Amino acid sequence: MADPSTQLFNIQIDGVWHQFPKGTRVIEACEQAGSYVPRYCYHKKLSSPGNCRMCLIEMGFPRLGPDRKPELGADGKPVINWIPRPQISCAQDVSEGMAVRTNSPLVKECQRGVMEFLLINHPLDCPICDQAGECRLQEFSVDFGNSKSRFLEHKVKKPKNVQIGPRVTLDDERCILCSRCIRFCQEIAHDDVLGFVDRGSYTLLTAHPGKRLENNYSLNTVDICPVGALTSTDFRFKMRVWFLKETKSICTSCATGCNTVIGSREDVIYRQTPRENDHVNSSWMCDYGRLNFKFLEAEYRLLEPRIRSEGRLVAVDWPIAIEQAALQLKQFSGPEIAIIASGRMTNEELWLTFQLANLLGVEMIDIVPRRGPGDDILLSKDRNPNTNGARLIFRSTSEPGAKLLAIADAVKSGQIKALAIFKENTMHLGIPVEQLAQLPVFIAMNILPNEATEKASVVLPACGFAEKRGSMVNGKGRLQRLNRAVRPPGNARDDWEILRDLLQAIGGGDSGSSIDDIFRRISETVPQFVGLNLNKIGDLGVHILQMEELPPMHPTDEEAIEQAIAIQAARRAVPSH
Ligand code: SF4
Ligand code: SF4
Ligand code: FES
Repeated sequence: MADPSTQLFNIQIDGVWHQFPKGTRVIEACEQAGSYVPRYCYHKKLSSPGNCRMCLIEMGFPRLGPDRKPELGADGKPVINWIPRPQISCAQDVSEGMAVRTNSPLVKECQRGVMEFLLINHPLDCPICDQAGECRLQEFSVDFGNSKSRFLEHKVKKPKNVQIGPRVTLDDERCILCSRCIRFCQEIAHDDVLGFVDRGSYTLLTAHPGKRLENNYSLNTVDICPVGALTSTDFRFKMRVWFLKETKSICTSCATGCNTVIGSREDVIYRQTPRENDHVNSSWMCDYGRLNFKFLEAEYRLLEPRIRSEGRLVAVDWPIAIEQAALQLKQFSGPEIAIIASGRMTNEELWLTFQLANLLGVEMIDIVPRRGPGDDILLSKDRNPNTNGARLIFRSTSEPGAKLLAIADAVKSGQIKALAIFKENTMHLGIPVEQLAQLPVFIAMNILPNEATEKASVVLPACGFAEKRGSMVNGKGRLQRLNRAVRPPGNARDDWEILRDLLQAIGGGDSGSSIDDIFRRISETVPQFVGLNLNKIGDLGVHILQMEELPPMHPTDEEAIEQAIAIQAARRAVPSH
């Protein structure tokens, strides 16, 4: 017997017969058949209350003859009995023989009517509204509405500029009462905070008494609000959306790796919004990750490579900085050198770091573990985006982060003479700054300065997540790409180029002239990457690691990681980006 979940139904849409699997919403079937049905309240990731009526269509079913079989017309197709009233298409699934009209005179009349009702009390805010450019009300008004208003009365006045939460601003006059934001909070964020009050034209969206829209997913309501009623307090009035360059990338603020679109203009990031990927983040992302890009524009960013000369750090050009770093590292043997890398580095950067360690005979190499409270929605406890990349590339027998305190101890005991720290803050590791200052060689590659950077013998300014390309493996084993949205400021350089040049200067040969070359080298040496290249990863990523196949974490590793995290938490004087 056929699997009922794969059962196909024959559906006629605008006169053409199609087949759709059982369970397909009529509105989705129409869209897949090329007949887009306008909608406001419907969102495919939320329940369907059917309250806006924008998706009205005509619906019918085959007329049955006396033998209970569909009567066939002259064209050999079933004759349709049309339901005399229009139906909403968002709350009903397809069924065998169903027929739909999406562009008949009746449907068009319904659409014009709904648009007229919605616009009766809508303010004429478009020129100053932040939603302009991505507003469904504007778009559908042009596509499905009337060009003139017959409304002569005064519009109802409602609250404007309401701080409904710390990150979201509400304009009640613009709200079309679709209830998407209410359902999102109830169904996805599990925080029943929004609701409607009052009746008729006076109905208002508001937060329940004593509550605010402040959950860590609040900005998703801004994404799904079809009009400019909910806007991001951070983004509003900063940039017209049509000026934004959109770059597909991933969030690097935790191990989930939510898929994103970075909106930027002239090398400034204005916003990050979620990109749909059902394998990772559905259509959502958390506020913490979404807003975690401001540090890239910090005034105090590291902009020039610098080397220590006569006790002071002086700016030099890149070849000199690389040459100095190589010369300094080559003075020592493997057991005297330690490398602290970061779980925020890409696979390509980690691979080059690992080659560097191999070339120098370094065994003291690890990443800094980073954890925070997770939730059961998206936010992961592991706040490093690429712990799994480090796990695969470093091929260490201990968990990423478990060797860190041993490295810190070796620095403190004086065993380590040369320390290279990439994209991390040594101040968080319990190594006193005075001890770092005593190190003969201390090479720091980072985005922002910190107290420890000032003690470095060579400082290498590098790129943030939105300024470079590369790949990462998320917490569930999915290999994903991040892409460059903006150029780095000053003389900061792509991390992989810095590491490649350093490797070459130490005598490691040429690793390649592009990030694609580095990925190719990874795919030749790390089994999980075999057969892949950056193109094959695609926009939605590929699964390369079954987490169940990994050996369970050793209790002593767990203990060492917890300890390292506790030390960092105690020492963190400034919030880490
Ligand atoms: S604020 Fe936006 S999402 Fe919420 S009900 Fe109003 S129009 Fe819909
Ligand atoms: S859940 Fe994690 S990856 Fe997703 S947006 Fe938040 S911090 Fe970023
Ligand atoms: S989209 Fe169908 S009723 Fe709103």
